Amino acid sequence: MSRRGIFTIKLAWENDLDSFVEMYTSFYNELRKKQGLTPMESSSYRKEAIAILSKDKVFIGFLNNKAVAFIRVTDRNGVFWIEELFVEKQYRGMGIGKSLVDAAEAYVKQHSNSTYIMVLPQDREAINFWLKMGYNILNTIELVKFLDKKEREHHILPVLGIPYRIHKWVDEQYSSLEREYLEVVGKFFESGGTQEEFLRIVVRALKSKIET
Ligand SMILES: CC(C)(COP(=O)(O)OP(=O)(O)OC[C@H]1O[C@@H](n2cnc3c(N)ncnc32)[C@H](O)[C@@H]1OP(=O)(O)O)[C@@H](O)C(=O)NCCC(=O)NCCS
Repeated sequence: MSRRGIFTIKLAWENDLDSFVEMYTSFYNELRKKQGLTPMESSSYRKEAIAILSKDKVFIGFLNNKAVAFIRVTDRNGVFWIEELFVEKQYRGMGIGKSLVDAAEAYVKQHSNSTYIMVLPQDREAINFWLKMGYNILNTIELVKFLDKKEREHHILPVLGIPYRIHKWVDEQYSSLEREYLEVVGKFFESGGTQEEFLRIVVRALKSKIET
């Protein structure tokens, strides 16, 4: 799709605070909506945005001088993280997200040979985007134990057959095949299926596919 105008990227500074706050707020409101959470107070987004501009690298994408996208990079003890990437809805699919990733990576490359991102496993669209951008090494698995007894709806998403749980979101983006997979996997483990059985079934099925 054409960008219909002149696109530029610049490192954000104090003057960009208002447009950054607006996009930063939209990023988290969009994410929280998918998760079924209410938006945070707008004053707290503003407070966070002020702190961010004073310490992190934020690149803003402008289309015809209008701020339409941003990417934030942090340096955590020499490890460089992309914290957020956001393109206003009406400007998606024009290559703007990729241009910002390129800009962030060019910046990181001056200091390090790798860029990290953390992405929620439920966020299928974000994962697909990052895979497309070449991010495909599964690094840390973050585990949580809730200390209250509150019931939380979850799916089971096995990694190497280990039945990790992931929260159900209000707005899930799974394809119908992915949904079917999650349902059948959930039933398998809930009915007492084990890691070893899971791996054996998968190995058998894949071997038979490869051999035919
Ligand atoms: C994800 C996001 C940043 C993509 O921005 P964008 O400007 O629409 O992406 P681009 O147009 O630059 O796309 C670059 C490439 O990725 C592909 N792509 C974009 N979104 C995709 C998705 N959801 N799934 C798969 N591929 C995707 C495009 O087809 C394009 O491929 P091509 O180079 O072969 O043409 C944007 O949708 C967004 O802001 N989403 C909400 C916030 C978010 O999820 N951020 C990422 C997690 S931090």
